[in-house]
Amino acid sequence: MTVYKLLLLPGDGIGPEVMAEVERVVAWVNARGEARIETETDLVGGCAYDAHGEAISDETMGRALAADAVMLGAVGGPKWDGVAYEQRPEAGLLRLRKDLELFANLRPAICYPALADASSLKRDRVDGLDIMIVRELTGGVYFGEPKEIKDLGGGQKRAVDTQVYQTYEIERIAAVAFELARLRRNQVHSSEKRNVMKTGVLWNEVVTRLHKERYSDVTLHHILADNCAMQLVRWPKQFDVIVTDNLFGDMLSDEASMLTGSLGMLPSASLGAADASGRRRALYEPVHGSAPDIAGKGVANPIATIASFAMALRYSFDQGETADLVERAIAFVLDEGYRTADIAQDGCRTIGTTEMGKAIISALDRMAK
Ligand code: IPM
Ligand code: MG
Repeated sequence: MTVYKLLLLPGDGIGPEVMAEVERVVAWVNARGEARIETETDLVGGCAYDAHGEAISDETMGRALAADAVMLGAVGGPKWDGVAYEQRPEAGLLRLRKDLELFANLRPAICYPALADASSLKRDRVDGLDIMIVRELTGGVYFGEPKEIKDLGGGQKRAVDTQVYQTYEIERIAAVAFELARLRRNQVHSSEKRNVMKTGVLWNEVVTRLHKERYSDVTLHHILADNCAMQLVRWPKQFDVIVTDNLFGDMLSDEASMLTGSLGMLPSASLGAADASGRRRALYEPVHGSAPDIAGKGVANPIATIASFAMALRYSFDQGETADLVERAIAFVLDEGYRTADIAQDGCRTIGTTEMGKAIISALDRMAK
């Protein structure tokens, strides 16, 4: 039997609560006996800062590098507002992405039919929505140098962030988008701001050339990022795959998440390049954050994290069928009328984090028979 190593990094806020429900699903998958997923748990974010004075330790990074996949809950919270920029909780997540070279962030936005009324848009706009946002994750303004604040004297300071992309970075993320589109509805929207930014000009040029050389069977549209934001709320179903840079991808994926009813529903996978055996480094995490306002209350929605684990089953553990099963179990409990507070609805039953985890397990038990 294949044994996989999964590193769990629950992190801060609601992270530990939603991760506990993933552990339940891991145990369920292991009990099926098709593969064995061995977990180890470690610290990242504010809790790691409290323990070691840094948002992720070298030991934890070593474990992440050795694992077949990493699952992260969430990082950050007001408790660490005063922490120096270099040690802030988010730095742990950014180091994981950078050092594991997880350049491709896949953020699917799927609207479960049962939740179409929880969307901020009318049902006909979102019913059946299925978008894949492919966000570049290790470049752009998040990591470009210089990145600094200089004191100019006289009460004036000057802050600089640098947006920088090289050809190979654009090529590899665009290739991921085109490959995914081929397995879906064969459409890619490439989003940048070539009307203002040099990185946008290069992005457009590289995507156009790659499309012509290797992916001319896929339909490619170029769309300015501001127009893309607008089109996402005007008629989101026009999109299949959207490929974009790190910062635009951060914003467009938050926007897309609300179309699906709640930020608590959106999973993500961050993947590195495939090695000779086809294996990719990978980190899976919900798109939502640490939600400090509801942390510790047992009301957080675990669905995004469980759906992220389903992505791990598909992309890291070679268990596509089990991944389908987990995704169907989520849709099933929603159809049964179970809701967490963030997606509460008249006529439905509002339950807590643990009950939602258990409801999904019970659906899995029934469906696997
Ligand atoms: C995300 C988050 C992160 C980001 C933060 C926590 C650093 O917003 O994953 O979208 O900006 O990438
Ligand atoms: Mg974000």
